[in-house]
Amino acid sequence: MEANRTDTMSKDKQDAHISFCQAPSTYHENRDRNAVSDSLMATYKRLPVTFVRGEGAWLWDTDGKRYLDALSGIAVCGLGHAHAGVARALCEQAGTLIHTSNLYGIGHQRVLADTLARASGMERVFFANSGAEANEAAIKIARLHGHRKGIDQPAIVVMDNSFHGRTLATLSATGNRKVQAGFEPLVKGFVRVPFGDLETLRAVAENTTGIVAVLVEPVQGEGGVNIPAPDYLNQIREICDERGWLLMLDEIQTGMGRSGRLFAHQYNGIAPDVMTLAKGLGNGVPIGACLARGEAARTLGPGNHGSTFGGNPLACRAGLAVMEALEQEQLVPRSEKLGRRLLDGFRARLGEHSGIIDIRGLGLMIGIELERPCGELVARAMAAGLLINVTADRVIRLLPPLILDDTQADLLVTNLCGLIEEFLSPVSAP
Ligand SMILES: Cc1ncc(COP(=O)(O)O)c(C=O)c1O
Repeated sequence: MEANRTDTMSKDKQDAHISFCQAPSTYHENRDRNAVSDSLMATYKRLPVTFVRGEGAWLWDTDGKRYLDALSGIAVCGLGHAHAGVARALCEQAGTLIHTSNLYGIGHQRVLADTLARASGMERVFFANSGAEANEAAIKIARLHGHRKGIDQPAIVVMDNSFHGRTLATLSATGNRKVQAGFEPLVKGFVRVPFGDLETLRAVAENTTGIVAVLVEPVQGEGGVNIPAPDYLNQIREICDERGWLLMLDEIQTGMGRSGRLFAHQYNGIAPDVMTLAKGLGNGVPIGACLARGEAARTLGPGNHGSTFGGNPLACRAGLAVMEALEQEQLVPRSEKLGRRLLDGFRARLGEHSGIIDIRGLGLMIGIELERPCGELVARAMAAGLLINVTADRVIRLLPPLILDDTQADLLVTNLCGLIEEFLSPVSAP
């Protein structure tokens, strides 16, 4: 069949047909400084840089320029780049078995599920490929749980300024109109309350029927590194217990040691019913996980949910290598200590500055809120060899790798403070 089809093609088409790949050795030679391509959908506003190599907290671009990575691919590469243990595990796994199917047993998936369950106190895990997918699983668990209780229009309480992903259900749960605009009709079944506001949550509990769960980030990352009162999650846990609701924590950004605990809710000594993970779990290999406990852990059954790639041997091997490194290198306490060192450094130098509204953080999630929008600082920092992020318009967000050393941490403080002071100085004001 294939031979016949090729016979009837023109010579040009045949040539096009057989030469669609560049030689792999040329991939890195594409030095387009704009980092864009007509072949890509324009979904991202990309910075004009392309990285070709990384090592620990450092990245190198196509021109050989070195950058200190204080963002870790948005809280993904917690172990830094080219981590030896992860690289070894992935090479070994790629040479052994990358994918079979969830039609069959997957040894690494079972071991990773056991490991995560032991580390978190949760009972069962569903593996997905991203944060949004992990949250989709959580939302489906909540709805099915509600239906089993006889609630035919189950609703989930979500927060203003939250971020839960870009699929239709997760963008509907997300508390940011910009993420939702243009994609209406949104998925129904979400009730929104202000983050940190227990009074409104209690009022909603009193006056709304059909609620089955609360979905909340322990610290809002995309929303601006918003840290609630220390007992916020404990209070929500209490409300959920009183009402028979599921407490579902989105630990996609806060999890895997980023907060200074393996999971941020461990500061509160509470147990969620459902917890979602992704980002740091694979150190760059796509993997998401929805963990559940109690009734929630037994909600999904055969045919309710699934994923072709979710929990394949390669992704789970990456997850196991990450868990091993976190333990062996004692990176969770390191994250807490390093976070304090960074916060102290920023507060000492910028704490009294009139242009600074707040300097806050939990572990290695750090936010520096400025009095005015500061998106342009990202490009200025990049020119100075430093990768940072600005979210919620005026919050500089830092998510450095957990393997950052003290010298790199001090360099980050010195260089970033210099850039912020220059940005806030009257001559630089718009
Ligand atoms: C808290 C939180 N939830 C969900 C997501 C979505 O994850 P993904 O982009 O892997 O779908 C993100 C991503 O930034 C996140 O920070």
